[in-house]
Amino acid sequence: MTAADERLALDVIETSLSTSVIGRASAAQNGKNDNALPELAKNELWESIDSTNTRAAALAAAGAPEGVLVLARQQTAGRGRHGRVWVSPPDAGISFSVILRPQIALTRLPLITLATGTAVARAIEASVGVRPGLKWVNDIVLNGRKLGGILAEMPGQALIIGIGINVRFSEADVPDDLRTKIEWLERVVGKPVDPNLIVLELAHKLEEAYNQLLEGKTDEILNAWKSYSTTIGQEIESKNGTTAGVVRGKAVDITSSGALLVEMENGETTELHAGEISIRRLDGSYA
Ligand code: BTN
Repeated sequence: MTAADERLALDVIETSLSTSVIGRASAAQNGKNDNALPELAKNELWESIDSTNTRAAALAAAGAPEGVLVLARQQTAGRGRHGRVWVSPPDAGISFSVILRPQIALTRLPLITLATGTAVARAIEASVGVRPGLKWVNDIVLNGRKLGGILAEMPGQALIIGIGINVRFSEADVPDDLRTKIEWLERVVGKPVDPNLIVLELAHKLEEAYNQLLEGKTDEILNAWKSYSTTIGQEIESKNGTTAGVVRGKAVDITSSGALLVEMENGETTELHAGEISIRRLDGSYA
């Protein structure tokens, strides 16, 4: 299943990209003569790197323009939310980070994680033919297991969107504690999956989602996310590390700022905000 043409390849991706921003910073720069240095406008593909989000943040701090992509075949220090480790063995998945510089109110920024989730689900559906679910706030799930995740970070002026998608793990690569918790695409479809096709779809779907965010199309973003949601309608428990912070109830909706609306056992509703908490389903399943 590991033919050479099924590894990430930047030339394959760049040749077929018809986006305007995502992955097209160097093209967008031609003739613009702005202050960004041309070498900082180039997309990157690393054989191995600590974290594509860390690299993208460094490029952004050095002045790289919006749209620059950092991809890697392996990460040695991939990061997830809440300081968790994101496991990225060689060629096992897609490690994708993009630099964005949105001119929008900070209060709307949480919506970018939801919009990105929809883009990832749509890209996988279009390129692989399986329909993943979305677990609030940043998880891509399939068969009750975690298939991918999103890490949106704002280390300075730029927004870095990091996306990890599991494509081709070998059983030996899966840490024992994740054995029943993670999913990868080739395990599901039983044949080789081309990561370049997924990245191409992802760049296009992400650009659509980003434009919706910039144009203030909140309802479209929320409705699209909800159509993939595995969280809404479920009994859930959230925790923020303290007993006092435990909330139990039914997830009923997403607010216009991206918070999860939960109807608690006492009949009151409360909003959960992504920064502080993680949730689990009370039926014990991961999704
Ligand atoms: C999560 O599930 O908590 C988020 C996982 C995000 C992983 C991606 S892989 C590309 C980018 N680089 C990182 O170090 N993390 C993100």
